[in-house]
Amino acid sequence: MKISIIGTGYVGLVTGACFAEVGHHVVCVDSDPAKVALLQAGGMPIYEPDLEDLVARNVAAGRLCFSNSTVEGVEKSDVIFIAVPTPPLPDGSVDLSFIERVAREIAGAMTSYKIIVDKSTVPVNTGEKVAETIKRYCKARVEFDIASNPEFLREGFAVGDLMKPDRIVVGVRSPRPVAAMKEIYAPFQAPIIVTDINSAELIKHAANSFLALKISYINAISVLCEASGANVQEVANGMGMDARIGRRFLDASLGFGGSCFPKDLGAFIKISEQLGYDFRLLREVQAINADQMARFVKKITDTLWVLKGKRLGVLGLAFKQNTDDVRQSPAIELCHRLLREGAILRVHDPKAMGKARAVLPDVTYVDDMNEVAEGCDALIVATEWPEFKQLDLERVRKCLTHPILFDGRNLFDVREMEALGFIYKSIGR
Ligand code: UDX
Repeated sequence: MKISIIGTGYVGLVTGACFAEVGHHVVCVDSDPAKVALLQAGGMPIYEPDLEDLVARNVAAGRLCFSNSTVEGVEKSDVIFIAVPTPPLPDGSVDLSFIERVAREIAGAMTSYKIIVDKSTVPVNTGEKVAETIKRYCKARVEFDIASNPEFLREGFAVGDLMKPDRIVVGVRSPRPVAAMKEIYAPFQAPIIVTDINSAELIKHAANSFLALKISYINAISVLCEASGANVQEVANGMGMDARIGRRFLDASLGFGGSCFPKDLGAFIKISEQLGYDFRLLREVQAINADQMARFVKKITDTLWVLKGKRLGVLGLAFKQNTDDVRQSPAIELCHRLLREGAILRVHDPKAMGKARAVLPDVTYVDDMNEVAEGCDALIVATEWPEFKQLDLERVRKCLTHPILFDGRNLFDVREMEALGFIYKSIGR
């Protein structure tokens, strides 16, 4: 198939590369000339495992190219995917101005039948608006179809998630675009569920909010575990073995973050409000998440008392493992709170230090994770990078002024840490 993808962020770039990998011809379009130039020169705007090789291989094979021009993308393709940002507005509702602009650009460039597919996360009923806009701005008066095809990839696992999805959701207004969508996705060998457009749009917000709810649920359970002497990991294991519940997304933490969950939760609450429903359950999910961070900071201050002038080591800055993304990162939020209390921070992240510098200037960046604790009053784990499990704990304990470790991700075994001589405080254990 001939495909263009408008917007070369996480979703657009990974989708384009994976479509090319299975044999489609893909033009990835972005309005940022610097980003397009970087990609054309073989560079990567983001860190995502396996992506660089995938892009290079498909560019070399002539199946993937990059452009600044929506017109070029539209001319060279039969199916156009929209994958532009849908950021939050101050009141929590979604800024759809990028979608609207792209819809107008596509409309202006169309000279033959096209299928326009929305991949960005959008409020229910957006597809209708996109269709109206295209109809209004398409001077050539050609036929077109719209579809909704939400993306469920996780950062850090994006290529794997895209190549082996659990399901593919395709929302349509008429049967006409279904065959083309099935052809695009046939190589991925995943179940395809065809729905109306509104349902497809709702699936995305409903799924993300449910996953966030799952995390807040286990975080609330972690509070009960701490109060009662139970272990949240054992509780999660026992719950998760029930196939109706499942173990994934039951890892208690200092809270969820990232560019999706906080934004999508806020948006879904707003969308519900506009549809006349007060989604109190999701407001509580937000409240529990905020509490979780506050409780973690309290754990630190309860132990260390005054933070002013204390040296603290922080392992992890990304919002989760396997990514250099620090947007809405709980780790960064934690650092800001500790700095506000007057702490002096030494920090490390395997991939995110470059991006963190812009939002966290007043800390010392340390290249070796084993050196972060040097001269510190305590060490804090804020991101679940698997490499942190390989820390030289003996060395870390010796170079800490006091052997105190706060683990916001439950990476270590409580008994082992105590046997090593640490005062070890984790979440819900
Ligand atoms: C999420 C959705 O998973 C994905 O389907 C959607 O397309 C985009 O939003 P992502 O934001 O990349 O993906 O990260 P995810 O792996 O879902 O983690 C989100 C946050 O929750 C991270 O801060 C992570 O550390 C935290 N988390 C996750 C927990 O605290 N506990 C868990 O059990 C799982």
